[in-house]
Amino acid sequence: MTLLEQITALRTEIELEIQLIDSVEAADSFRLKHLVKKGTLQACVEGLRAVAREDKPLVGKALNELRAMAEGAFALVQESFERQSSTPAIDVTLPARGPRRGALHPITQTIDRLVEIFTSMGFEVAEGTDVEDDAHNFGKLNFAPDHPARDMQDTFFIEHADRSDVLLRTHTSSVQVRVMESMKPPIRCIMPGRVYRNEAVNARSLAEFHQIEGLYIAKGVSMADLKGTIMAFARRFYDENAEFRFRTSYFPFTEPSCEIDMSCFLCKGEGCRICKHSGWLEICGAGMVHPNVLSECGIDPNEYSGFAFGFGVERVVLMLNGIDDIRLLYENDIRVLSQF
Ligand code: DAH
Repeated sequence: MTLLEQITALRTEIELEIQLIDSVEAADSFRLKHLVKKGTLQACVEGLRAVAREDKPLVGKALNELRAMAEGAFALVQESFERQSSTPAIDVTLPARGPRRGALHPITQTIDRLVEIFTSMGFEVAEGTDVEDDAHNFGKLNFAPDHPARDMQDTFFIEHADRSDVLLRTHTSSVQVRVMESMKPPIRCIMPGRVYRNEAVNARSLAEFHQIEGLYIAKGVSMADLKGTIMAFARRFYDENAEFRFRTSYFPFTEPSCEIDMSCFLCKGEGCRICKHSGWLEICGAGMVHPNVLSECGIDPNEYSGFAFGFGVERVVLMLNGIDDIRLLYENDIRVLSQF
């Protein structure tokens, strides 16, 4: 092979190799193979000495052109690697990450919706205090002095220098008492709030949770008003075609007392996981305010009557979302909260 033929072959090889360079390492081995003193181009320069004199200009020209091409192309490759390493890898074609929006906690969202429905029905919102005394939490609500709910096992008592009747309210019914003591009938209030019970924490119960209490006191209020109010509320909140069941029950502060069930909003009474295959969901405890409670709170039971109801907010959130562990609502796991 003549030197000219070698140069032509080398040109083809270099053109191909330049295109295949895909890394700094590949560029470096290209340089070491062709462009250094012991490289292929220099070998051709040395070969030039043996070329016949009359052929030298032609071969020399071909060699110079090849060198210029190889060095030029290599410089471009190197430049592009340098540019890549000095700019951070930003892919401007990536879709933008939107701002992360915060949201209210599911319990707050649920209380807000409940409050919205009841206020649109004419109820006002009232609040009491988390720390209560025995009289407001139990005594004036017609709990007998030896009622088991007063036991240390159920109630968190607060150590106080000269009082032994200070406690964390165990239900929002204490707010009923405060409302009746401070307002004149007609009274229409709902009372959302946090309550506390000395319970072991597990999938079904917590020591701290929320309730909503309702109270309506006026002249001539009857059980029919209670039924109408609860049914209108539940049809708006859960299911407009719901059916209801009023079961007799007992609470010291109401007479008669009942528990109200609604046909399951998910399976419509067929039986499913949410209603534990019974077709019914318990929505609240309720009843006609006991005459003793009215008189304890300064309202004449011969002139006025009323109904009350109360239910747990966490239970509502669990039921609506098909969640079966109440602790999920208190662990503040962003993977849970971001779903609301
Ligand atoms: N206070 C009751 C509880 O914590 C709930 C309740 C039941 C409230 C009946 C009421 C009512 O106002 O009438 O379990």
